[in-house]
This record gives sequence, C-alpha cells and structure tokens, in this order.
Amino acid sequence: MLLRFHWPRFVAACQRRYGNAFTLKVTSLGPVVFLADPQDIKEVFTGDQSPYRAGEANAVLRGLLGDNSLLVLDGDPHRDWRRLLIVALGRDAVARHTDMIMEVTAANVSSWPLAREFPVARRLEQITLEVILRAVIGATNPDRLTELREVIPRILNMHPFATLAVAYPGLRRRLPWRAVNRDFELLDRILLAEIADCRADPDVDARTDALAILVRTVPANVGGQPITDIELRDQLMTLLVAGHDTTGAALSWTLERLLRNPTVLEEARRAAHRSAAGDPTGDDYLDALLKESLRIRPVVFNVVRGIHRPVELAGYSLPAGITVAPAIGLVHACPESYPEPTRFAPERFASDHVNPSTWIPFGGGNRRCPGSAFAMFEMRIVLRELLCRVDFTLVEDGDERQRVKHFALVPHRGVRISVGSVRPSRCARTQ
Ligand code: HEM
Repeated sequence: MLLRFHWPRFVAACQRRYGNAFTLKVTSLGPVVFLADPQDIKEVFTGDQSPYRAGEANAVLRGLLGDNSLLVLDGDPHRDWRRLLIVALGRDAVARHTDMIMEVTAANVSSWPLAREFPVARRLEQITLEVILRAVIGATNPDRLTELREVIPRILNMHPFATLAVAYPGLRRRLPWRAVNRDFELLDRILLAEIADCRADPDVDARTDALAILVRTVPANVGGQPITDIELRDQLMTLLVAGHDTTGAALSWTLERLLRNPTVLEEARRAAHRSAAGDPTGDDYLDALLKESLRIRPVVFNVVRGIHRPVELAGYSLPAGITVAPAIGLVHACPESYPEPTRFAPERFASDHVNPSTWIPFGGGNRRCPGSAFAMFEMRIVLRELLCRVDFTLVEDGDERQRVKHFALVPHRGVRISVGSVRPSRCARTQ
C-alpha cells in the first residue's frame, strides 16, 4: 500500500534510513533490492549482463502486451527486435513527423476551454496518443482512429480490480472482466487489420510510420523466422503503451514545474519563439528544460532486472530469483550530483553533455528506452507550440504529488490551469 500511494517518498525514506542499497518486499515481484548508487547501477546497466533478465522481471506485462513484446523478451530475441525498433523509432524517423506533431497539437489546443479551469494532463495525453497512433501505426482510417482513441485510454485507465485480468488472462472470460475482454479483442482486431492493410499497401515504401518501416525492412526474419502478425501486434501494443502515457506524463510535469517557476517560464517562452524562428539556441534551452523536468520528476521511478544467477553487487551476495531495481528517482535527487536537487534549474543541462550515470530517466544499457529520441523530439515540438500559442496560468497552489498510474508517476491533480487566450497562428518553423 505504501508503495502504491507514496512510492517516491517511501522509497526515499528507506534510502535515508538504510543507505544506497536496501530490500523491500513487493507484491508480484517478491524481494526487490533498490539501488541508489550510480556506480552499482552502472554495473547493472553496462557490466556483465549474464546475471540479469529484465524480460523475466516484466513478465506481468505479458497479459497486456503479449508474449513477443520487447519488454518481456530476453536474450537473442530481445536483441533482434530491439535493433529493429531502434531503427523504426530513430531520430531521422521521428523528424519526418514534425508537421504532423505540430498539427495534432494545434488541433487539440484549439478545443481548450477559455477562462475556465481544467486539468491539462488529459489534453496532453490525447496529444501524445494521437501522435503515437499516427507515427507508430500510421493509422489514417477515420473509423479505426476513432475506435483506437476510445479503446486505448479505456484499457490504460482500467480500474485496479480490472487489471487482475492483465495479470491473469484466464479471468477475462468471467463476468466481472468481460468488458475488459471486449476491449482487448477490439484492439486486437484493429491492430491486425492495420497490419494486414500495411502488408498489402502498394505504397508501403513511401510510408514513414514504424509499422511500415518494420514491414518493409524485415521482409523475412527475426532470428531466421518469418515475422508473424502476432509478433507485429505485440510490438505495436508495446510501442502504443510504452510511448503514450510516459510522454504525456513527462509533458504534464514540465508544465507543472514551469507554471510554478515564473522566471523559468518567461525564459522558456523566449526560447520557444527563438526555436520557432529557426534559432538553435531556442531548441537547446527547450531540451535543457525537458531534461531538468525528467530529472526532477522522472516518469518512471525505477526499472527492474530479475537476477538469474547469484551475483556480487553493492557489497552484497545476491541470490538468484530476486529482483534489483535501479532507482532513477533517488539518483536524480542526490545532492552530490545535483546541488540543491529540489530546485528546478534547466541551466544544469546547458551543455550538450549529460552524465549517463546520473541522468537516467530512460533507464540504461541494453534495455535503455528505444523511444527516447522520439520522446525528446516530440516533447520539444509540443512544448514549443504550447509556449508560443497559449497564455496559461496555474489555478492550484502547492506542488502536485507524484501519483502512481500503472508504471508511471503522474501529477495527482492533473495540472489544473486556466487559459486566457490561444493564438491561432502556428509556430513559424517547419524542420
Ligand atoms: C518521456 C517519455 C518516456 C520515458 C520517460 C520512458 C522511459 C522508459 C524506461 C525507464 C524504460 C525501461 C528502461 C530500462 O529498463 O532500463 C523504457 C523502456 C521502453 N520504452 Fe520508453 N520511455 C518514454 C517514451 C517512450 C516512447 C515514445 C516509446 C516508443 C514509441 C518507448 C518505448 C519503449 C520500449 C519499447 C521499451 C522497452 C525497451 C527494452 O526492454 O529493451 N518509450 N522506457
């Protein structure tokens, strides 16, 4: 319970009491050794990988993402799929979506209410969902898009009771979980229809979405086997789930921090206008701002690795069968790495160089988030549009608490704002 409702604060209290390595018993995982020392975490991320199995530790996600999801694979199948997804999500691939991201943001913003308070987090999630639908599966069929816009949030926002059907798929045939089952079946049908259309599309070579890139760059194999529709479905589900709520939450935290720091907000607005005018110093500032936001409010508080064979770590002999959890949130709050760690200060990231041991919002090593370049690029464009076009003020005082939503931490009140005006013109630059 403590972990569910007060996760970051509880884990930070444990660190203060027990030091940089301590064990907690977590439902569904058993004993979990939390790590807060960057050197120990570096060892887990980039040292000998043979003791670690992230896929095994993520096994609970199989019921949601499927048995072939990158998140639940280990070993060679994980390596092969990862290579493909990195190409499909690379910076070049996402840069081709700039106009689409701007249009999606503009369309959403134009429906925001004026002079009335509302939680902006929901709107930001709609933007990131729309972007991921178009960029990952290239969905353009209006009927399917409408269904996806409804069914994906329903699945991702399901009641904790309903999530039992994710952990135990056998439950889905029983009455209390039949609605969940219908949603899963609907989503399956749509994704499989998109895959079939993509395979048959004579213009697949001209398409820029991740599905098309996967279908055409890998006509025949992963590990020597033809790629099945079910494998593609599982990877699409993974990208939709891993790439939408996380990016939405990161944007929400960025606005939450900005609106509570008026001086930084003013600097950010100036940077957004410079960025829109093609001045790279504007992009640099927005990137620094996003990095600081991901530092001070990491969306994923810790990652996990199952231990497959005994290993020496953090001065302890850890047995096989337990889990280690590099604690991103604790590393980011360390005053030795970040003086005055609770101060929101984008200037910490003024230089291009970030220390890969102490800035780890995307995890690390051979499991580091393959969507990080996509997310950073998308967030910069969305943030630039918002800062250039919208006059917003915060209507709630006091910092928002970090609430656990599945595997992400989101602002508990949803960042309530009031909008004075929305400028119709888009930011000038297309890049
Ligand atoms: C701000 C946004 C995001 C954050 C904070 C984030 C964070 C993370 C983290 C912490 C991990 C686990 C890394 C580890 O275990 O070491 C991860 C994995 C992953 N992320 Fe992201 N992510 C974001 C956006 C995205 C996007 C946009 C996509 C795809 C479109 C994506 C796809 C994935 C996938 C497929 C994995 C599994 C990687 C593997 O197991 O090899 N993420 N992400």
